[in-house]
Amino acid sequence: MIILKNREALQVHLSQYKGKKIGFVPTMGALHRGHTSLLVKAKVSCDVVVSSIFVNPTQFNNPKDFERYPIRTQEDIEALESVGCDVLYLPESAEDIYQNETDFEVDLGLLDKVMEGINRPGHFKGVMRVVKLLFEIVNPTHSFFGMKDYQQYLIVKEMVKQLNMPIEILGCETIREADGLAMSSRNLLLTLPERQVATTLIKTLEYCKEHIDLVPTEELEDRCFAMMKQYGDPEYFVIRRADNLQKFDADYQGEIRAFVVCTIGKVRLIDNLKVK
Ligand code: PAF
Repeated sequence: MIILKNREALQVHLSQYKGKKIGFVPTMGALHRGHTSLLVKAKVSCDVVVSSIFVNPTQFNNPKDFERYPIRTQEDIEALESVGCDVLYLPESAEDIYQNETDFEVDLGLLDKVMEGINRPGHFKGVMRVVKLLFEIVNPTHSFFGMKDYQQYLIVKEMVKQLNMPIEILGCETIREADGLAMSSRNLLLTLPERQVATTLIKTLEYCKEHIDLVPTEELEDRCFAMMKQYGDPEYFVIRRADNLQKFDADYQGEIRAFVVCTIGKVRLIDNLKVK
C-alpha cells in the first residue's frame, strides 16, 4: 500500500488510473470490520482502491467528542494492508484538504431536517464539506458508505446527484459483533459493563421489526424509546420511510427502517434496521 500525505502527490499517483474504476472509502480511522468490509467490496468491483484517514473537525458539533475520538493510525494502516487497499491518503494537515475550498449549495429538502440533522446541528454540513473536497481530490468513480450512518449515506448520494459528480455511491450493510452490536469506532470508548448494555440498541430494533405489523407506528416508537430508557439515555427512536426518512401512511408499500440513537455511559451510539 502506498501512503501519500498530500493531495499533489496523491493526484500524481492516481493519474495513472485514468479511465479505470477507482473505488474510494473515506474514513476517520479507528478502523473496524465495518470499514474493512467496505474496502473488500471496493476491491472486488474496482481496479484500484483508495482510502483516506482524516478526523474531520468540521463535522463534530460537540468539541469533546472530537477530542475523545480514537486515533490508532498504525493499527489502521495494518488493517488497510490486510484487505489489499492500494493507496492511503493520510493528509498531514486539515489545510491539505480545506485549501482553496469553494462555497456550494445543496438543497437537501427534508433529508437533513430529521434525526441527526436536528440533534447534531451543523454535522451534515461538515460531512458534505469534507466529502465533496475528498471526492475532488481523489476523483473516484465509486465510493462506499456504511449504512449504519444511513442518513449520511442518503445525504452524500443526494449531494453527488445535485452537484453532478460522476460517482456511484454504494451503501453497504452494517457489520455487527456476534451479539448484534453495530461495529463502530466509538465502541472502543465503552467500559465492559457499558459494552454489555449497548446490545440494547439492536435488541430494541429487532423488537420493533417483530411488532411492526402488530402495533401502531407511533405507539411502537414510544414503546421502543421506553425500552431504551431503561438502559441508557435515548435521543430518539423513529420508524421512517427508507427512501426519504419521512413518516408514512397505511398505503405506503416501500421499505421501512427504524432508527435509534442512545447514549450509553458517555458514548453516543447510533443504529438502524430494515423493519419492513
Ligand atoms: O462516516 C465517516 O467516517 C465520516 O463521516 C466520513 C464520511 C469519513 C467524513 O468525514
